[in-house]
Amino acid sequence: MISELKSVDSCPSIPKLPESLKSGQWPTALAPMQDITGLPFMEVVSRRGPPDFFFTEFLRVHAHSKIDDDILASITKNPTSRPVFAQLIGENIEDLRRTVREFRQHPAAGIDLNLGCPAPRVFKKNVGGGLLRTPKRIAEILKMLRGEVGTLLTVKMRIGFEDDRFFDDLLEVMNENNVDLLSLHARTVLGGYRSHPSYFHVGKAVRNLECPVMLNGNVFSASGASQLRDSTGAHGVMIGRSAIRNPWIFRQIRETQSGKDIFLPKLRDVYEYVDDLYLSLKKPGVDEMKSVARMKKFLNFVGLSVDPEGKFLHEMRRALTKEDLFSVCSTHLLDNGKESQLFNIKPFDGLVARPSSESIDSGCQV
Ligand SMILES: Cc1cc2nc3c(=O)[nH]c(=O)nc-3n(C[C@H](O)[C@H](O)[C@H](O)COP(=O)(O)O)c2cc1C
Repeated sequence: MISELKSVDSCPSIPKLPESLKSGQWPTALAPMQDITGLPFMEVVSRRGPPDFFFTEFLRVHAHSKIDDDILASITKNPTSRPVFAQLIGENIEDLRRTVREFRQHPAAGIDLNLGCPAPRVFKKNVGGGLLRTPKRIAEILKMLRGEVGTLLTVKMRIGFEDDRFFDDLLEVMNENNVDLLSLHARTVLGGYRSHPSYFHVGKAVRNLECPVMLNGNVFSASGASQLRDSTGAHGVMIGRSAIRNPWIFRQIRETQSGKDIFLPKLRDVYEYVDDLYLSLKKPGVDEMKSVARMKKFLNFVGLSVDPEGKFLHEMRRALTKEDLFSVCSTHLLDNGKESQLFNIKPFDGLVARPSSESIDSGCQV
């Protein structure tokens, strides 16, 4: 797959992005998510129907950074045949240049620049979402990247920092530097994860950019993905949290596009997903409590669609051992005929995921 990707300079007339898995369908991407979108999760999702593209979680680039082994594995050992873009977060031109050159030895489909991370400890250093306050600096970084990145150069961005005052300038900067794909998370940085996405800005980016735009933010279902894509004219849809909750979503989107009935997972399928995730994420020698804590980061999203009262979420958050965790899963996903009940397509109203409270590192999720 990767070898089919054309260098931007060598064939400007050939569509630059890799083909969708199903020819003629608009593409989907799994959103980059720190501590989530490593190789194990990419494999677990792919077993249920892969997205068309993957993005790695961000690699923090600084004077002493080197390519993280886990991030590299999600590119070099990826058995899914789908292209993987390597995401970088940083602002120092020379450090970014060095990192891009290091990536040349590896089969990444492209380099993605993170311009959206809302974690204060990140944006205060003027990286990620912090850079959206200075379009001039972004222009300098992209100019260098365009010269150094021999494959695809992509950007993942929010619509602005506190508001959209620089949005038009930012689109101009993307055009001037021949960015190949923009994934637009339709919120401001200060809008965090719960404000209502402004899909109007996705439509505006589609109309003004020379490159394709992937819509991102609050896509909950295959039908929602289609509606949003159609109403904005986006090239495709990037999905984060809903893919953790419902890893069948990419398959469902493909089925929707083919006019087929979509696969509706039952609670037994969800139990099997949780089991697959536990086995896939488990690292030899890692303490059981840490493995359970890591699982909770995922189960906080899964639990949004298990029961409307949030009992699964409540009990899962208290589990300390693997036995506790799977006992909660059996109670809510298998026992007393639950195994044949349907998993809710969308999150139940009023339930909230709190992945950071259990995780070791709050990362980009604030
Ligand atoms: C746990 C978590 C970690 C994230 N880490 C990253 C990241 O490393 N890079 C990035 O560009 N965005 C990151 N994001 C943002 C997502 O890629 C995505 O833009 C956001 O969740 C909105 O999409 P959604 O509504 O489909 O989840 C993260 C989000 C979450 C929930």
